[in-house]
Amino acid sequence: MRGSGNRSSSARPISGPEALPVPAVHDTGTGPAILFLHAFPLDASQWDHQAAALSGSHRCLRPDMWGCGVSPELTDPQHATLDAYADAVLGRLDAASLDQVVVTGASMGGYTALALLRRAPQRVRALVLTGSRASADTPEQRENRLRMADLALREGSETAVSMVKRLLGPGARVDPHIADPVAGRIRRCRPAGIAACQAAMASRPDSTALLASVGVPALVIHGEQDGIVSLDEARAMAGALPRGELVVLPGVGHLANLEDPAAFSDALLGFLGRIG
Ligand code: MLT
Repeated sequence: MRGSGNRSSSARPISGPEALPVPAVHDTGTGPAILFLHAFPLDASQWDHQAAALSGSHRCLRPDMWGCGVSPELTDPQHATLDAYADAVLGRLDAASLDQVVVTGASMGGYTALALLRRAPQRVRALVLTGSRASADTPEQRENRLRMADLALREGSETAVSMVKRLLGPGARVDPHIADPVAGRIRRCRPAGIAACQAAMASRPDSTALLASVGVPALVIHGEQDGIVSLDEARAMAGALPRGELVVLPGVGHLANLEDPAAFSDALLGFLGRIG
């Protein structure tokens, strides 16, 4: 997967005259490369289980969104876009001489994966989406996001911690081994990170029409009890991807890879085995 194929020449930040900061990427393992894009308001550690399960056979690259994990903050987080973030991630792939990667995105990470497909489809070897959707926000959802961004900037990241309940299924939200680390990740996300994620998601375009143009193998892994993205939406998305497959994980919610890491990694490894 290295050193061949077309390299994007558009891997540059698109907003503002100044260069945007370079996101941190956690890079473990060797072998064919997989890019793991995290959900909101988490960080790259969302993928720790998968990195542990796959690093023996794959190179696992896990970026932190701006202001999340150890990535630098934007000076103007309320103007972040997912396209600009996708370009910044492509810049990191360029720096690592990776022409093509399997892109795995959870929820916001899935929106970013679709941005990446818009910006540089030739860099995507295969696509894995979980807890994600192709549609844009409604005006009401957009307003809520901007309100939450503003609140985090004024009063801190603790204002987002109550999201844990919505992010997890009924079993996981009362399991301290799962719920506490999710709350910890949210607390670690800086207010500028929360604002950047919300602004970027609020301004994302509808990508429904894009799905039909995705010629690479694609897998949708969906938690049966996802309270944010319905199973019907996941089914429709898998159906709209020409080479799409759907795996439904029973008993888990929106953060399927954290709620049932073994089942998630098995589904992912099975897919990677099939695409060769
Ligand atoms: C996420 O998990 O990334 C968010 O729930 C996505 C969203 O708010 O649309």
